[in-house]
Amino acid sequence: MQKGVTVWFTGLSGAGKTTISRLVETKLIESGIRVEAFDGDVVRRNLTADLGFSKEDRQKNIERVAFVAKLLTRNDVIVLASFISPYRQMRDYCRQEIGSFIEVFVKCSLAECIRRDVKGLYKKALNGEIPGFTGISDPFEEPDNPDIALDTEIEEPVESAAKIIEYLKQHRYITLERP
Ligand SMILES: Nc1ncnc2c1ncn2[C@@H]1O[C@H](COP(=O)(O)OP(=O)(O)O)[C@@H](O)[C@H]1O
Ligand SMILES: [Mg+2]
Repeated sequence: MQKGVTVWFTGLSGAGKTTISRLVETKLIESGIRVEAFDGDVVRRNLTADLGFSKEDRQKNIERVAFVAKLLTRNDVIVLASFISPYRQMRDYCRQEIGSFIEVFVKCSLAECIRRDVKGLYKKALNGEIPGFTGISDPFEEPDNPDIALDTEIEEPVESAAKIIEYLKQHRYITLERP
């Protein structure tokens, strides 16, 4: 049993959005739940390959993603969307558009994201090689009132993923046959 919802992971690059959403995805698939995972990096290579990182392009990127997420959500798919989505306005837009929406703040300090530097992008951004890089030369507006807040400097990825699953169960978005 499942009821459509978009679980929207927002946070700095390297905060843990992709890592945690993959764990959630695996757990849901194992439980026979229909799920679609959407990742900024992947979407930007196809659906929005024509867009850059200006505020306008970031907004367009999110609008297209919201459109697809909405279609899936209304067909009762659990959508896991991992996008930096640095502006509050964009995230509010998604909530409005999609309706059934859970905002997850994947919290991690900039210092820790720079230390992790999973893709080597912070090094480049700090060298001035990537203009408009979130956290370095572009803002990240923290969610004021997220539905779920994860702190990836304190929790293990599996703990964060378990919190999401628990939330989905408690709010009756999913019922697991095998808990
Ligand atoms: N508690 C945690 N939750 C998520 N990721 C963590 C955590 N602790 C360390 N990490 C590491 O941080 C990195 C996060 O990268 P990623 O998931 O790609 O971030 P994002 O998708 O937000 O850019 C990974 O290398 C992951 O192993
Ligand atoms: Mg990612």
